[in-house]
Amino acid sequence: MEVSPSLLSADFARLADEIEMINSSEADMLHLDVMDGVFVPNISFGFPVIKSVAKHCKKPLDAHLMIVEPQKWVSQLSELGVRIMNVHQEACSHLHRTIYQIKEAGMEAGVTINPATPVMLLQDIIRDVDLVLIMSVNPGFGGQKFIPHSVDKVRELRALIERTGSKAKIQVDGGVNGETGKLLAEAGADNLVAGSYVFGAKDPHQAISTLKHL
Ligand code: DX5
Ligand code: ZN
Repeated sequence: MEVSPSLLSADFARLADEIEMINSSEADMLHLDVMDGVFVPNISFGFPVIKSVAKHCKKPLDAHLMIVEPQKWVSQLSELGVRIMNVHQEACSHLHRTIYQIKEAGMEAGVTINPATPVMLLQDIIRDVDLVLIMSVNPGFGGQKFIPHSVDKVRELRALIERTGSKAKIQVDGGVNGETGKLLAEAGADNLVAGSYVFGAKDPHQAISTLKHL
């Protein structure tokens, strides 16, 4: 299992230590939640913070953009060295164009769907993306309760990927812990995002390792 700890639950006053913990852990990447107060009812952090994080983080950066008009920020994210740029299906009027702009900028392209967005809406873009992120909470906040139906969506997405021959990986974000992670692994998830489960743990290395070996 790939693990992408979400920086949103880190202690921002101790960012260097938190990133050091990620660097020395089994995490595969670091998940960055960018929020604009419009697409979601919260504001998190933006480019100046990502720039500092990128300087210190040795793991690839996975940017989850919970913002309107994400296509405006493709070149900035690529210049900061972000590996995966993930945009919400609900935020893109021209998703196909945005996905190709991301790829042309040298990043991997991901598409995210909210809990109320059906998997079948991805059938005409699934061959073009490197990753699909299934939100298992409504985006905007860490520490929310896992929505159980997300497990069925992972299963449905796995079937769509197999049917179409897509190479997309399946990532899941929201309320992930050792228990929900196990269900998601069985349903066919490739990559788990976890915020409070990792950064709220007594032993974050161990929490990452638990997900890694699911
Ligand atoms: C929510 C974010 C998540 C969040 C997950 O909008 O996309 O990445 O940090 O937090 P937990 O793992 O605490 O649910
Ligand atoms: Zn996220």
